[in-house]
Amino acid sequence: MDQHYKKEGIVAFAEGFKYHDGNIESDTPLSKEVLNSPVIIFKKVFSEEFLNQLRETVVKFNFKYNDYTKGDDGLTFNYTREDKLQDRKRRARFNVSYSFYFWDKETPKIALDVYYAMVKFGNRLSGRKPEERLKLKNEKIGTMSYFYYPSGGFLGNHHFVDDIGGYDEVYDEIIIQFSKYGRDYHQGGVYLAPRYRLSENYSSENHGELQFIEPLLEPGDIMAISIKDVYHKVVPIDPDINYFDPMKGRFIASMYYVPTADLKELSKTVKN
Ligand SMILES: [Fe+2]
Repeated sequence: MDQHYKKEGIVAFAEGFKYHDGNIESDTPLSKEVLNSPVIIFKKVFSEEFLNQLRETVVKFNFKYNDYTKGDDGLTFNYTREDKLQDRKRRARFNVSYSFYFWDKETPKIALDVYYAMVKFGNRLSGRKPEERLKLKNEKIGTMSYFYYPSGGFLGNHHFVDDIGGYDEVYDEIIIQFSKYGRDYHQGGVYLAPRYRLSENYSSENHGELQFIEPLLEPGDIMAISIKDVYHKVVPIDPDINYFDPMKGRFIASMYYVPTADLKELSKTVKN
């Protein structure tokens, strides 16, 4: 029963979790030490072959919308969006997002399966019942988007105290790593730091020393982050090379929670 326990800076590692048929399973319970860490990297949960298939399905999907677009029921359709917001102070970013929703009939099965697996996994990490946050009658639901970072792609200062949903929970951002630093991209990527406070504006005094995480991540890993405790940003990927091909370079999926009541309001706030 004893879990091999390893830690590197802010990150704890966990092994033995495997994705299978719409579920993430493990025989081993998570140790207290791992669950006390604000960041957990679960090694090799997905096979690289499966993730390549998922990535291809996502980036080749025939999206009808290029931004958050509400239907008659007030809920958005699946959409892709290219953000070139390099100069903003808040939520600066340059990347492409691909968002799928369970209420959109066109969502591919593979994306739906992974979505359910991730929300259930998040429930397990946070000690909720398996079926929570999967239905519109729940107070919050899990949402999942995929992000492609072309060369020069980055994610600046995001997650503020006034963001939708607030951040007072544990493991409220759960990432799937698709690509490999040093092989698929050679520069840039994600940094994490202990966060001292959530704030309306960015200040370097709001967090501790930044730790470069990319060398710790492999394709198939899942990284769970408690946003309230962890400041994170993505610095430009391969800024000196020129490519824009969603099958090449850095690619992740991100699962996070949105208050269900805010879903219909999202189109106003994503622009900020
Ligand atoms: Fe984030």
